[in-house]
Amino acid sequence: MKTLIKGGTIVTATDLFPGDVYIDDDMIHSVGTTLAVDVDKTIDARGKLVIPGGVDVHTHLDMPFGGAFSVDDFKTGTIAAAFGGTTTIVDFAIQQRGGTLREAWETWMGKAEGKAAIDYGFHMIMSEHTPALEREMGELVEEGVTSFKLFMAYPGVFFMDDGGIFRCMQRSGEIGAMICMHAENGLVIDALVEQALRRGETEPKYHALTRPPEAEAEATHRAIALAEMANVPVYIVHLSATGALAEVSAARRRGVQAFAETCPQYLFLSYKNYEEPDFGGAKYVMSPPLRSKETQKDLWRGLAFNDLQGISTDHCPFCFKDGKQLGRGDFSKIPNGAPGIETRMSLTYDGGVVGGRISVNRWVELTSTSPAKMFGLFPKKGTIAPGSDADIVIFDPEAEATLSAETLHMNVDYNPYEGRRVKGVSETVISRGEVIVDKGIFVGAAGRGRYLKRAPRST
Ligand code: URP
Ligand code: ZN
Ligand code: ZN
Repeated sequence: MKTLIKGGTIVTATDLFPGDVYIDDDMIHSVGTTLAVDVDKTIDARGKLVIPGGVDVHTHLDMPFGGAFSVDDFKTGTIAAAFGGTTTIVDFAIQQRGGTLREAWETWMGKAEGKAAIDYGFHMIMSEHTPALEREMGELVEEGVTSFKLFMAYPGVFFMDDGGIFRCMQRSGEIGAMICMHAENGLVIDALVEQALRRGETEPKYHALTRPPEAEAEATHRAIALAEMANVPVYIVHLSATGALAEVSAARRRGVQAFAETCPQYLFLSYKNYEEPDFGGAKYVMSPPLRSKETQKDLWRGLAFNDLQGISTDHCPFCFKDGKQLGRGDFSKIPNGAPGIETRMSLTYDGGVVGGRISVNRWVELTSTSPAKMFGLFPKKGTIAPGSDADIVIFDPEAEATLSAETLHMNVDYNPYEGRRVKGVSETVISRGEVIVDKGIFVGAAGRGRYLKRAPRST
């Protein structure tokens, strides 16, 4: 199958020009200002942006957490991702305490097999450190799982002490893996939660008030210090707070390889959402929590000046009607997480590019190129270049949409951005040369997505 995308504006992290993209089977064959080739199919992209498919390196599909399962599985979640212009995800497999990393990887491979509509890779969450697991990390890298998520939060669930973190970091240096860190001081947070509940403070807003930004800044500082001592890079996930960003910025100025992502929820929502009536604040219970509105400008500045290298979603949806209700009367029992896999590209184009905060090239870099580079997927994913996978989105920069759970495709009964208007919509989505969303209609197939064996770090 030969396809020509004709007459669009091609945007990569570095280029912006009117031109054509010639796709031969599943790969990009050539890119040029005017290509004259015989093809089976021509897609008219006049007036549209032609961008590399979005790469979302932080999703939790079909994830057991807090007494529930995230409600998007690999079918519904990846179809929703495709509608939103994302063609690659990196999800998190979870090593259960007492279990091996291989068991976890095989379990998550099984969850995705036959269901995923787009390509997918895995990070590995390590719920504990043992010498055997430390050794096994190398075997996972061989399988293409080249990053490990560790938690400074959630004592009794995923929490790892500094000694375990340091040893995993040292091992990651030996095998070329990346450590992804959930940086919040979980022991302090647990104390604050216990004290709040004892005072009868049970409503959703206390989730945020017991997870102060200082708990994130302190843990971010410690994570970077541990990485510096281990002489390895570290990637802070879902960074939400000004103080945490300052730690990353300061480390980078010293020449430390500290990297971080933020998520749309921290750019567009705020603490005020927790005060919505009728338990509505539960919709926004996630960790780290939403911060003050003033934080948003700091995060945008971090994105513009490369102190933050990517925007991912931390998509981890629980329904409001059943899932979130687990925490009525006790905010600490509200399952942590919110939906976002489908809305990332439009929200960040609207808030970032239309809002004048970042260039269109930087938008592509933050949502596709840089995540692909950080996690061993570039140049197969994350750009439009000869030899890259033909993962391409025809994006209409003028189209507008209203975000609503009614019309979005995520398998969840609410949307955190309900009613918000956005400018910029993914119109046609191509994955490895195959059109999977055609002007707003899903024409792909569950199960066509392939496992991505990611490369180890090269620096
Ligand atoms: O609240 C969140 N972020 N849920 C997903 C798990 C995690 O910590 O990323
Ligand atoms: Zn986390
Ligand atoms: Zn997460």
